[in-house]
Amino acid sequence: MNMHVIGLGYVGLPIAVTFSELGNVVVGIDKNKEKIDLLQKYETRITEAKLKDLLIKNINAKRLSFSSSLESIGKADVITIVVDTPISLGGVDLSYINTVVHDIANYLDGYTVIVIKSTVLPGTCKKIENLIKQLNPKASFDVVSIPEFLREGMAIHDIFEPNRIVIGVESQRAKNILEKLYSPFKNKTKIFFTSRSSAEMVKYASNSFLAMKISFINEISNLCEKSGCNVYDVAYGMGLDTRIGEKFLNPGPGYGGNCFPKDTLGLASFGKSVGLRLTLVESTIMANESRKKELADKISYFVREYKTPKVAFLGLPFKAGVDDCRKSPSIDIIIKLLDKNIDVCAYDPIPTGIDNSRKILGSRITYAVDAYNAVKNADLIVFGTECENFKFLDWAKIGTLVRNKIIFDLRNIINSQEARKNGFVCHIIGTSNT
Ligand code: UGA
Repeated sequence: MNMHVIGLGYVGLPIAVTFSELGNVVVGIDKNKEKIDLLQKYETRITEAKLKDLLIKNINAKRLSFSSSLESIGKADVITIVVDTPISLGGVDLSYINTVVHDIANYLDGYTVIVIKSTVLPGTCKKIENLIKQLNPKASFDVVSIPEFLREGMAIHDIFEPNRIVIGVESQRAKNILEKLYSPFKNKTKIFFTSRSSAEMVKYASNSFLAMKISFINEISNLCEKSGCNVYDVAYGMGLDTRIGEKFLNPGPGYGGNCFPKDTLGLASFGKSVGLRLTLVESTIMANESRKKELADKISYFVREYKTPKVAFLGLPFKAGVDDCRKSPSIDIIIKLLDKNIDVCAYDPIPTGIDNSRKILGSRITYAVDAYNAVKNADLIVFGTECENFKFLDWAKIGTLVRNKIIFDLRNIINSQEARKNGFVCHIIGTSNT
């Protein structure tokens, strides 16, 4: 099948690459020429496991190519649109998607299925359909919704091993084509066909539900600290009930990234636009915001006795294994620490994670080349992500480098037994023993 993917970001590029690996002829399109130049040279700034290998393999197999022009769009059986839908004061901002629609409308040639993979509110596919009809009344097409459920850093895995595929389609002709396109998955997972608006809602509701689960366990985590319980045992005990499920019950510094913060706000504002207060979603957003303030307050309490306190902050992106610092709780907490006149020296094992943090924080903090340099003369070490490397730190060595032996582990990632053996006081969120 001939597939064109418009928007080659964290989601679009893995989709282009994997669908070419499945045997389709795929053209990836992005208006950013620099990105296209890099991709044509087998390069990308997106760090996803297996992405690069599949990129090289499929370009060489002539199933995958890249362009910044829309001219070949007319050849596509399926056009997948995966551009960003940021949140703005007025709600979900559809300007990027609308621009793409304006750009492609007149290139459509022959019957085309237009897949909206960008996260969009219920009713958007219908609006896009009307817009294309207006722009090109002769065009033969259907607009469908296939939301994506990929985790950043795990995108290739999540495409090949999906939990489910949700397809919002209301035309039999489009459904037949999509059944063929998704046939490699039919024995692997449930392919659920529904209406377009329900599919659009599945995405917002799923992300908001997961965000709510995280805020809930963070609240329980605070309660555990006050009441002598261990949140990890509590989460495990809860998760044994299959109605609850064990996943997304890890307490932490709050959810971040480009998805949960944006989609919870998007859903709440959609609720308001139809006259409904989504109190659970709104509380989730509020709880996640105050989470970062609570933790910054705790950090400043731990170092309250020191004159010019210095904090070593390890782990900067919004989660381990990625370099994306958008809406990263670590960055938000660091900003609050700086406001409290606390010096921060930061480190992340992914060099581009440091680069991305620098784009936000500039020279307001210092950066270290490794964890040991970061902790030099620190009064407190904070762990902001669940990076595997942090499990294997040499606590005897760190003991010789710090000014004060205090740790605040926001992800329960370190070997606290070893740290305690070396004289450290360990505060681990959701537990009360130090
Ligand atoms: C999320 C969803 O998991 C994907 O299904 C969805 O497709 C994607 O958003 C999207 O809408 O594009 P992602 O943002 O990559 O994926 O990150 P997650 O791994 O879900 O983590 C989100 C945030 O929640 C991170 O800050 C993470 O540290 C935090 N988290 C996650 C917790 O604090 N506790 C948990 O138990 C799980």
